[in-house]
Amino acid sequence: MSIERFQRILVTGSSGFLGHHVMPQLKQAFPDAELIGVGRKDYDLLQPGAPAAMLKDIQPDCLIHMAAKSGGILTNKRRPADFFYENLVMNTHTFHEAWKAKVRKLVTFMGGCSYPSGARSPIGEDQMWDGYPQMESAGYSVAKKMLLTQSWAYRVQHGFNSIVLIPGNVYGEWDNFNLEEAHVIPALIRKYVEAAERGDVTITAFGSGRPTRDFVYAGDVAAVVPWFVQHYDSSEPVNLSAGRRISIRELAEAIKKAAGFQGDIVWDTSMPDGQMDKIFDVQRLHDLGLSCDTPLEEGLRRTTHWFLEARKQGIVRL
Ligand SMILES: NC(=O)c1ccc[n+]([C@@H]2O[C@H](COP(=O)([O-])OP(=O)(O)OC[C@H]3O[C@@H](n4cnc5c(N)ncnc54)[C@H](OP(=O)(O)O)[C@@H]3O)[C@@H](O)[C@H]2O)c1
Repeated sequence: MSIERFQRILVTGSSGFLGHHVMPQLKQAFPDAELIGVGRKDYDLLQPGAPAAMLKDIQPDCLIHMAAKSGGILTNKRRPADFFYENLVMNTHTFHEAWKAKVRKLVTFMGGCSYPSGARSPIGEDQMWDGYPQMESAGYSVAKKMLLTQSWAYRVQHGFNSIVLIPGNVYGEWDNFNLEEAHVIPALIRKYVEAAERGDVTITAFGSGRPTRDFVYAGDVAAVVPWFVQHYDSSEPVNLSAGRRISIRELAEAIKKAAGFQGDIVWDTSMPDGQMDKIFDVQRLHDLGLSCDTPLEEGLRRTTHWFLEARKQGIVRL
């Protein structure tokens, strides 16, 4: 593993949820580098020529590509073509142009939903190609998965240095709280906070609450990114998650507490439970001397506090 020194680090998607966490970590880790964050208003990466123009204008030696069309299950089910097209087009061209522009290192992100729907928990990186992902989000997750093949292909043919990180189910400040687009934690925080404000006596949750999942705090994901920028030069992906098993019932109780909801949770067992167990294997991350350890209760407390403050300031995506 080499120690890289970069002078100009370009971050796409810096205005997004994870971008808000990653930018300060990069600033702290690389105080002498010029750090340039861009969003869609600067370069719409879906437009032909935009990725090439961005790289020509900025001339980074390191590109951290976080721009994506991402969202929760509802929006993925409704708009699979948008998720497929936008991610595939953005990634394929941005990646190709980064190689052409002689960027020395590209850091990209895909998601845990790209693993096969039948993957065995804990889900290790070697299970990635063992089957097709969950159908509801396949537009997004299959498009994203192509990053792995692109990373391998450009490394083999061109010696281009790119890496692919796989954050699990990320939650934290700056997440999207729009109920159509949100992942499960921001959606539940918003519902429980609003139920508490209305003084509701019960809240309905779907399923039995028995399925187990693994959630990772965005601040933990962001904190390990600089290490990967500096030290990791392989197209073998790495899971970034807590590797901790928590039931949906425990999650709901923890969010209830964080949101200050005093009523009862009623479990609607007529609704399906989905996959019973989905936990990521974080051995590879740990073997690199890294971990994502913020306790869920603490992460939920910070996220709920941020949601309440950000809502007052009008800066939360609702
Ligand atoms: N959130 C998760 O749970 C999770 C889990 C695993 C992996 N990831 C991956 O982590 C990365 C960051 O995700 P996120 O949750 O931070 O996403 P996000 O909050 O939805 O932010 C997406 C970012 O991409 C930019 N973007 C979207 N379309 C663009 C376009 N056509 N041209 C240029 N920029 C565009 C957005 O810019 P504007 O704001 O200007 O539109 C925004 O800054 C993505 O690669 C995602 O797939 C996320």
